[in-house]
Amino acid sequence: MEKLLVITLLLILNSVATSQPVTDPVAFLRCLERQPTDPASPNSAVAYIPTNSSFTTVLRSRIPNLRFDKPTTPKPLAIVAAATWTHIQAALGCARELSLQVRIRSGGHDFEGLSYTSTVPFFVLDMFSFRTVDVNLTDGTAWVDAGVTTGELYYRIAEKSNVLGFPAGLCTTLGVGGHFSGGGYGTIMRKYGLSVDNVVGSGIVDSNGNIFTDRVSMGEDRFWAIRGGGAASFGVVLGYKIRLVPVPEKVTVFNVGRTVAEGAVDLIMKWQSFAHSTDRNLFVRLTLTLVNGTKPGEKMVLASFIGMYLGGSDKTFNVMNRDFPELKLKRTDCTEMRWIESVVFWAGFPTGTPISVLLNRTVTNKAFHKRKSDYVKRPISRIGLGLILKKLVEVENVRMFFNPYGGRMGEIPSSRTPFPHRAGNLYKIEYLVSWSEAGEDVEKNQLARAREMYEFMSPYVSKNPREAFFNYRDLDIGSSVNSTYEEGKVYGVKYFKDNFERLVDIKTLIDAENFWKNEQGIPVRR
Ligand SMILES: Cc1cc2nc3c(=O)[nH]c(=O)nc-3n(C[C@H](O)[C@H](O)[C@H](O)COP(=O)(O)OP(=O)(O)OC[C@H]3O[C@@H](n4cnc5c(N)ncnc54)[C@H](O)[C@@H]3O)c2cc1C
Ligand SMILES: *[C@@H]1O[C@H](CO)[C@@H](O)[C@H](O)[C@H]1NC(C)=O
Ligand SMILES: *[C@@H]1O[C@H](CO)[C@@H](O)[C@H](O)[C@H]1NC(C)=O
Ligand SMILES: *[C@@H]1O[C@H](CO)[C@@H](O)[C@H](O)[C@H]1NC(C)=O
Ligand SMILES: *[C@@H]1O[C@H](CO)[C@@H](O)[C@H](O)[C@H]1NC(C)=O
Ligand SMILES: *[C@@H]1O[C@H](CO)[C@@H](O)[C@H](O)[C@H]1NC(C)=O
Repeated sequence: MEKLLVITLLLILNSVATSQPVTDPVAFLRCLERQPTDPASPNSAVAYIPTNSSFTTVLRSRIPNLRFDKPTTPKPLAIVAAATWTHIQAALGCARELSLQVRIRSGGHDFEGLSYTSTVPFFVLDMFSFRTVDVNLTDGTAWVDAGVTTGELYYRIAEKSNVLGFPAGLCTTLGVGGHFSGGGYGTIMRKYGLSVDNVVGSGIVDSNGNIFTDRVSMGEDRFWAIRGGGAASFGVVLGYKIRLVPVPEKVTVFNVGRTVAEGAVDLIMKWQSFAHSTDRNLFVRLTLTLVNGTKPGEKMVLASFIGMYLGGSDKTFNVMNRDFPELKLKRTDCTEMRWIESVVFWAGFPTGTPISVLLNRTVTNKAFHKRKSDYVKRPISRIGLGLILKKLVEVENVRMFFNPYGGRMGEIPSSRTPFPHRAGNLYKIEYLVSWSEAGEDVEKNQLARAREMYEFMSPYVSKNPREAFFNYRDLDIGSSVNSTYEEGKVYGVKYFKDNFERLVDIKTLIDAENFWKNEQGIPVRR
């Protein structure tokens, strides 16, 4: 008790003494040098400050979204490319001593750039050098460091086994650190749930530099929170222990597109009732994009049904023609491949790309991006769908991806992890707006399109709250300036529904001083 008082007092004195952030990068380096250090790997050797020649390269290498890669984007005072626990502890010590905010980055795919930008003085704690994957075939588990990319994880599993996989994202350069901590969905979620549904352990560093290397030592509450509640509000995740899932030796993929002129409306209507209720080995994503019409200048909507069946093409063909005969899937539309090859397919690489591309951590096709999300609980009516397709043509450049739920997703209780969007959801909508031309006016215009489409969709999607997917971070749905409960509740119930209150309780218990802050953090209950 006495010890606790002294520590608390020290903390208060410390924050009072240096409440003004120190913004001199050299002072930051000196601070790192004063922290406990491992002579074999000094703290300052992994710190990049703006005068280091590779500072900009290191910063930009994991900024996939050009919206947050402008001269006007607030830059960190330093990047600590931690490679050991000691580096992390030193960085956290200096965050305290110099009153700096910490932004933790693993893969840098945050849609609002929260892992590498901030409006207050900050540095980036980069976890990218934490890249071990340890697959244990004996018990079918793996340890995955936070800085491992989804592509590397899939590759390392496939290296050891043809019949094991893991349910996680489609993009292969996502960092496990951020991706798992926000849920993590992918093409086998109807069979196995989300990444977090298959996480069995983790390691984390708290704001005082205490290291918890397993689930027991970190406690069930903390372990619950970092499986979907966003780890950035709770500490630095070192890695996750996962349970691998069985995949067949052969899976089958297809991609069939029909324009509105070719009967897409009927197909979309059928998709809405079939995709969430069909065989859970089958995942059929629906994407709506614009293509040129028959007359010059005319645009129309193309509906693509991109699917994967966990099994061979005969079975795929049978299931599709039983449950979705309207699509008239042909045998020639189906391609059998290994599960690991399907990962390359879903990531959008051209047919024939070798699986070694999964080890490439370089982000392809940098562009300006805005994403938003919605959940649908009742099928959209034919009239509604007609209006939506018309609106898509009108707003231009907004794509919509529909991911079906059901199957395993509907069986897992919504309170088991912070991710609440389970039973009752037919599908999730992702709105995608991407562009390549720089400029404030262009950006304003493009963001307005995303918001206009989202506004238009309100009658058709979940309400009270209008649910949103945390991994599709969207500051439009609410953000926090003063880290109050009231501010946090606005976005918190959209991302977490009833689980928001438990996240606040856990936050209050383990980070009452709110050391781990961001624009969409979990607030402390005062
Ligand atoms: C092209 C693209 C495709 C995507 N596809 C999918 C998909 O198929 N399925 C899906 O579920 N999501 C998908 N996402 C969303 C993705 O899951 C999130 O953006 C996720 O947060 C990315 O994790 P990251 O480590 O790469 O990001 P980062 O930007 O590094 O981190 C995201 C958030 O997590 C925090 N964080 C990162 N590492 C740690 C750590 N070690 N400890 C504590 N906090 C940490 C950051 O501070 C930040 O708040 C996609 C995103 C993009 C850009
Ligand atoms: C960056 O520069 C500082 C000061 O010159 C140096 O101490 C540090 O090691 C450099 N960082 C890296 C990663 O080279
Ligand atoms: C793999 O898991 C088994 C069973 O839990 C365990 O006995 C073994 O030590 C593990 N192997 C490694 C290399 O960790
Ligand atoms: C669509 O039409 C525009 C001109 O209206 C043209 O520039 C573009 O290349 C066409 N796109 C495709 C995919 O044919
Ligand atoms: C990795 O991908 C990037 C971006 O597409 C590419 O420029 C680079 O050549 C690739 N590297 C390797 C080793 O394949
Ligand atoms: C944040 O706090 C400041 C100072 O108390 C106040 O002026 C401001 O209105 C608050 N902002 C929000 C969004 O609550």
